[in-house]
Amino acid sequence: MLLNSKYLNEKKISDLIHDDYQYAKVLNSFGIDFYKHYDENLIDLCDSKGISSGKVLGYRNSLHESNLLANEYLKSSPVNLVIEFLKDNHNYFIKNKLPYLQNLINNLNENKYETNFSKDLKFIFPIFFEDFVEHIYEEENDFFNYIYELFNASQGRINPSSLLVMMKKHSIKKILDDHINEDSEMAGIRGITRNYSYKNIKDLHLKVIFQELKEFDEELTVHSYIENDILFPKAFELEKKASKILENIAFHN
Ligand SMILES: [Fe+2]
Ligand SMILES: [Fe+2]
Repeated sequence: MLLNSKYLNEKKISDLIHDDYQYAKVLNSFGIDFYKHYDENLIDLCDSKGISSGKVLGYRNSLHESNLLANEYLKSSPVNLVIEFLKDNHNYFIKNKLPYLQNLINNLNENKYETNFSKDLKFIFPIFFEDFVEHIYEEENDFFNYIYELFNASQGRINPSSLLVMMKKHSIKKILDDHINEDSEMAGIRGITRNYSYKNIKDLHLKVIFQELKEFDEELTVHSYIENDILFPKAFELEKKASKILENIAFHN
């Protein structure tokens, strides 16, 4: 471990990130733009910024814990917990992941090898970001609220008239169908980057962007899986239950 830290500390920033793009994000978290320090080594850079390189290396090691456990746990969790998990995910995308990507793209210089990529990304990414925020806004302020109402009804906390109004307006089956059929919002970016094929990209800054976009696309696939295969099926069952509850109330009145 010590030997490994010594080796990493002495590596040039460009080599460090060439071998492991996650260091770009780690440095960014410490307020350092990696693309301004290609020729410095990690320890000198950290010294000049007054931060401990041990902390930087430690933070890198803490990234990426497996999500598989989370999925298994969510399958057997009540719907309110699944919604809270998804909202946390939304928050991470909007406040962390996407601003980091947007900042990387904004600061991308046009280089002599890959001019088109940088122009296209600068054009398409803000449009994608806006659409994505809208998608999340609709989920949180409309669909998730509806599912919460169904969940509350199943727990005996019911306001029949407001539930009836909401059930007339929504259908989980339709929400799910639309969600599945919606063109992946990442399709445009996937096209521009030729499926994130970064192997032949010469510019390190652009290469980090491709790798980050690929990682984000994978995270989004897991996120959609949780919505389509865990949340909406649970909500569908709750909707059937809520219909029966309303029928019963109508029958007894
Ligand atoms: Fe979502
Ligand atoms: Fe979604």
